[in-house]
Amino acid sequence: MSILTRTAPASAIRQAPAAAAAGAPASAAASVVAWVESIAAVTTPDAVVWCDGSLRENDALTKLMIEQGTLIRLNPEFRPNSFLARGDASDVARVEDRTFICSPHEADAGPTNNWRDPAEMRATLAPLFAGSMRGRTMYVVPFSMGPIGSPLAKLGVQLTDSPYVVVSTGIMTRMGAPALEQITDETEWVPAVHSVGAPLAAGQADVAWPCNPTKYISHFPETREIWSYGSAYGGNALLAKKAFALRIASVMARDEGWLAEHMLIIRVTNPRGRVFHVAAAFPSACGKTNLAMLQSSVPGWRVETVGDDIAWLRPDADGRLRAINPEAGFFGVAPGTGVSTNPVAIDTVWGNTIFTNVALRDDGDVWWEGMTDRVPDHLIDWRGEEWTPSSGTPAAHPNSRFTVAARQCPTIADTWDDPDGVVIDAIIFGGRRASTVPLVVEARDWEHGVYMGATISSERTAAAEGTIGELRRDPFAMAPFCGYNMADHWSHWLEVGAGLENAPAVFQVNWFRTDEGGRFLWPGFGENARVLAWILDRVDGSAPAMDTALGMLPAPDAIDVTGLDLADGDWEKLFAIDRDAWTREVEGVGDFFDTFGSRVPPALTEQLRGLRQRLG
Ligand code: GTP
Ligand code: SPV
Ligand code: MN
Repeated sequence: MSILTRTAPASAIRQAPAAAAAGAPASAAASVVAWVESIAAVTTPDAVVWCDGSLRENDALTKLMIEQGTLIRLNPEFRPNSFLARGDASDVARVEDRTFICSPHEADAGPTNNWRDPAEMRATLAPLFAGSMRGRTMYVVPFSMGPIGSPLAKLGVQLTDSPYVVVSTGIMTRMGAPALEQITDETEWVPAVHSVGAPLAAGQADVAWPCNPTKYISHFPETREIWSYGSAYGGNALLAKKAFALRIASVMARDEGWLAEHMLIIRVTNPRGRVFHVAAAFPSACGKTNLAMLQSSVPGWRVETVGDDIAWLRPDADGRLRAINPEAGFFGVAPGTGVSTNPVAIDTVWGNTIFTNVALRDDGDVWWEGMTDRVPDHLIDWRGEEWTPSSGTPAAHPNSRFTVAARQCPTIADTWDDPDGVVIDAIIFGGRRASTVPLVVEARDWEHGVYMGATISSERTAAAEGTIGELRRDPFAMAPFCGYNMADHWSHWLEVGAGLENAPAVFQVNWFRTDEGGRFLWPGFGENARVLAWILDRVDGSAPAMDTALGMLPAPDAIDVTGLDLADGDWEKLFAIDRDAWTREVEGVGDFFDTFGSRVPPALTEQLRGLRQRLG
């Protein structure tokens, strides 16, 4: 099937405007040019611009967005070449209930996804995209996920009518001419179409953040295409990220024997100079960026950053798991990011950064809750309104974000863009759990580790629309991001693990356990290095552990807590195994597994049975 027939809603194709082909660089593959023309014919933009990823192009786009009111230039004295974008209040987070997996069979999307019949979805989208870019420019944005030319990298092209999406993709991926040059008519590449869904009539004034109350974030796993309509926010619109590098890539990975995961990657050096790499999956806004940039509080241990959100992992010829970070930037949560919690992130965003939905200081710099201990007396809040500490509303949106290049991170590992990736020694799963789940547990083996990943549950955060704090199952932190049936994802993990001669050790962590009064029991952030040290000493074979119903827990004194401000009994509470809570937990897991019917791998049902039995 040609790219053209697989992507253009046939009913909507009209005469292709010559402009799309005329502006194409000589290096553009014929299949790309034909596809661009077909989409331009449907969406009818005023102009088509092929992006080369140059500094000049970036400057022109930021200038344009300042004129249009989309961006505010920050005071260059404090934040050079940096900008504030204020989203529409209805478009500030991922919309999971408007995110669709359009596989031919509903069972292939599975119960954790919203499924739509592909033909039905094409019929729904066709009238929405018809003329959706009228009065706007359509940008052609080629990108590589992973180092250009890496055997682990994948290519894509996004068409978008949002210049904000273009400059953001320029930070988040290897975007522009070098990526386009990689695409030939024989190369596999993922087509992604994005429109904010706000066509302009002749003479109609634009708004600062065009979007549409109707939103569709649609994925077609079989044909590997993405169609996104109505939003300009992060995960809904920067399609290289969650839509491609997780939802579509997870399907490619299933078919090709690798893993596309919602994981950070770090390189850790212990006091004896041994180097490890760790991949960790936590749900959105549960600490990936913070762990990725951790400044170790434990003498002699050093942590460097490889990636903060997505990992592509592949078995190598030696039976080890190798990983790359397919992204080139960070789209990080601003609130809670401060000098005392994540000084590395604060240093990373010194300049060349786009801030979205944070507050503006009177001196032209930015601010958000948790950035500094001292709260400014006056701000313009994320909605553009006057704000003082007595306003009673957050100055920055709880899901406000910074977008910045990975190479600006002072702790970036020199191997972060190694085309061969790094060898993973340990995998960590985590969630935000006020109760029940201990600070750290080691899985007995790979199958037990897959069970841990499959049964993560976490309290909802502001990263997606929905009720904050509500507990939900988020297996592998992939509930919103797996492009196929989640139970098949578990089977795939079991299969990949069975083929590894040197499988990583697997752990579960919970930084978020609280006492009866709701106070965090564990200081977190840099102090998480103490837990990392135990984890990697386990991998190294030198740390004592105790066998429990849940798995291996640190032996008493195996984690050094000297100097920590723990109250009497806190340590015990961090590791307490509450039998009643765990009985409810396994009941919940059983009910959850039941929603997948016979697709649950028997090895996981067996793990659940074993846990039930051990709990007695
Ligand atoms: P996404 O970008 O949405 O995937 O989020 P993330 O998983 O990268 O989470 P991030 O590191 O940005 O942290 C989200 C929130 O959790 C921030 O407000 C952090 O300050 C807070 N946080 C991160 N690590 C810890 C920790 O160890 N302890 C506590 N108490 N809070 C933490
Ligand atoms: C997340 O929600 O996991 C994010 C932000 O990393 S977004 O790109 O919007 O998905
Ligand atoms: Mn994320």
